[in-house]
Amino acid sequence: MNKILCDSHCHLNDPAFADIYDGVLRETEESAVGLVVNIGFDLENSALAVRQAAETDWIYATVAIHPTECYGYGPEALDEIRRLAASPKVVAIGEIGLDYHYDDTDKEKQEYWYRAQIRLAVELGMPICIHDRDAHDDCLRILKEEGVLRAGKEPRIPVLFHCFSGSPEFARQLVKLGVYISAAGPATYKNSKKVPEVVKEVPDDRLLIETDAPFLTPAPFRGQFPNTPKMVEYTCRKIAELKGLSYEETAALTYANAKRFYRIP
Ligand code: NI
Repeated sequence: MNKILCDSHCHLNDPAFADIYDGVLRETEESAVGLVVNIGFDLENSALAVRQAAETDWIYATVAIHPTECYGYGPEALDEIRRLAASPKVVAIGEIGLDYHYDDTDKEKQEYWYRAQIRLAVELGMPICIHDRDAHDDCLRILKEEGVLRAGKEPRIPVLFHCFSGSPEFARQLVKLGVYISAAGPATYKNSKKVPEVVKEVPDDRLLIETDAPFLTPAPFRGQFPNTPKMVEYTCRKIAELKGLSYEETAALTYANAKRFYRIP
């Protein structure tokens, strides 16, 4: 199998894979996926992502505390993220951000962790993966306030909005500031009106694709759980159709973009 696809954001460290992990590795090895970035979302599974990356050459890791997972942590947890970030195959701080979707949202606590981890990434000179759910304006405002995104200049560190869910106008704004944008399974859903428009806004050299597995399984397998890295093929096919490119061209450019963003050799 030609290894032409990169799943730029998934969670092989999620408990959903605990009992089937070896099978998912084998299945991915037999697929067209040649590179997987395994994204941390709390201390424990950031450490697991690092271990999984150390064991398998085509897996890289990121480490962070996700906005909906931040409530139980005190400031000292940042030292643990800093320590994990020093592991050889950790390529970014992520996923970090803001998630205003749930009723129990503590915006202040989320903002504390978002800013703290942005500052850590700047200190370490590492890329950041942003999780933005119903918080577009605040996510962007804070990146500007922290001096990461600057009008007319390159971002201070590479910035990616993963599983992008904003408007085409928001995408245009981000692209102008040098941000990368990633499309996940929802790009393939029939009722997703915005994502196809967003994809057309994003230049070929700024677009990544991902599964966000175990969640967001793409059509025609929508609803199946868990989603797995090989399913990134269906998002790639949809993006190709939306961009008027071939599947192979789209695979090649999104693979190259992921390697450039994460600085993977
Ligand atoms: Ni994710």
